[in-house]
Amino acid sequence: MDKFVVRGGNPLVGTIRVSGAKNSALPCMAAAILTEDEVTLENIPQVRDIETERKLLASMGAEVELGYGRAQHRTTISCRNLSDPVAKYEIVKTMRASSLVLGPLVARCGMARVAMPGGCAIGGRPIDLHLKGLEKMGAVITQEHGYLEARATRLHGAHLVFDKITVTGTEDLLMAAVLAEGETTMENCAREPEVTDLAALLIAMGAKIHGAGTPTIHVHGVPKLHGARHRINPDRIEAGTFLVAGAITQGDLIVSNCNPQHLGAVIRKLEESGARIDILSSDSVRVRADGPLKASDISTLEYPGFPTDMQAQYMALATQAEGVTMVKENIFENRFMHVQELNRMGANITVDGRTATVRGSSRLSSAAVMCSDLRASASLVLAAMVADGETIIDRVYHMDRGYERIEEKLRGVGAQIRRMGDVFAPREDAWHE
Ligand code: UD1
Repeated sequence: MDKFVVRGGNPLVGTIRVSGAKNSALPCMAAAILTEDEVTLENIPQVRDIETERKLLASMGAEVELGYGRAQHRTTISCRNLSDPVAKYEIVKTMRASSLVLGPLVARCGMARVAMPGGCAIGGRPIDLHLKGLEKMGAVITQEHGYLEARATRLHGAHLVFDKITVTGTEDLLMAAVLAEGETTMENCAREPEVTDLAALLIAMGAKIHGAGTPTIHVHGVPKLHGARHRINPDRIEAGTFLVAGAITQGDLIVSNCNPQHLGAVIRKLEESGARIDILSSDSVRVRADGPLKASDISTLEYPGFPTDMQAQYMALATQAEGVTMVKENIFENRFMHVQELNRMGANITVDGRTATVRGSSRLSSAAVMCSDLRASASLVLAAMVADGETIIDRVYHMDRGYERIEEKLRGVGAQIRRMGDVFAPREDAWHE
């Protein structure tokens, strides 16, 4: 199993490049199910979840070319022959976002069988809202042998109101609605840039969608979609992680190939913490820190609020800030597994329900620590970069699910980090966002 060995103490200086957003690429790959033609996606990140999605689509009969070059990371997907519209348990259990194929499969094939996602390290994470929406659109859903089966000759438009804001739920039902007969109105939708990115691809494929990126989305169903080429948005969570890396190490870092407009809440918090942020252009941001950081509370919210996927990384920064930082996690229960590992490195964090209290600043010291999920892994790397001595971070397969060659990128700007073990060694028990 791979480990990272990190020696702390170096400020990060230079330019670090952001990859394409995994959470945009996953629904966009699923959208290829909606057409018999080829869909080409550019700026695909080279991370394990994308490989899992490739396997998932291929297991259904799709042809998926996935190529990573120096200049371009691209996939071309042809779902002309979807002989087996089934998302098997072996794949779903390693990547919860596999449930994103449910809507497109029913819409295109009239049926889908998707293994039910199991428990999850960061909370229960049901998909009841996806199912409720599909039922309103005319699908009949049954459950047997650990699989959900959804059937509909043709889905029809409906008025859907989400009880709770869900990102993949919005994406799944949007993909179902584009081929449904008639009009669909979706209310209380997620406004995340990943939803907007997916909608842009669907529109390029011939879908009629208005309002993506707002709480209310209108869809006028069409009988058929065609192929398209689309470039995936930069990963705002990877960009945010690098901004924290620049600030926590007292560095001077330019984060390139990002979209600063998607980083508003994170930038505001970093500024409140005493970091200096300059938006250099439409795709690059500079972060500098040269002095003590100060505490500034966060409360995770749906976009455009502070992202839950940045909570763990921000908590690493809070351990270095003077004063008391309150961190409230509103989106997921039980998303504080990084706390005990940060405490083992010398942080002073207590958790009460959904609120963590971070007392800083703490002198962190190296320890052997373990990743529990994707973003928790990132927080440990950030903490290790300011800890005394050499930290060994185990189970970095969690990190490989969503960060492309992070150790190489960080080394390029001065971090002392190396990987031990087999790159991308297969793991079956990883869990996922
Ligand atoms: C997506 C992101 C993940 C991010 C999360 C919140 C992907 C692949 N993953 O996850 O990185 O952390 O958004 O920004 O894009 N819920 C229900 N019923 C449902 C669906 C969700 O109760 O049917 C609840 C969840 O338990 C959670 C909340 O709604 O408490 C938000 O979850 P959701 O937005 O669906 O997260 P994901 O789409 O799985």
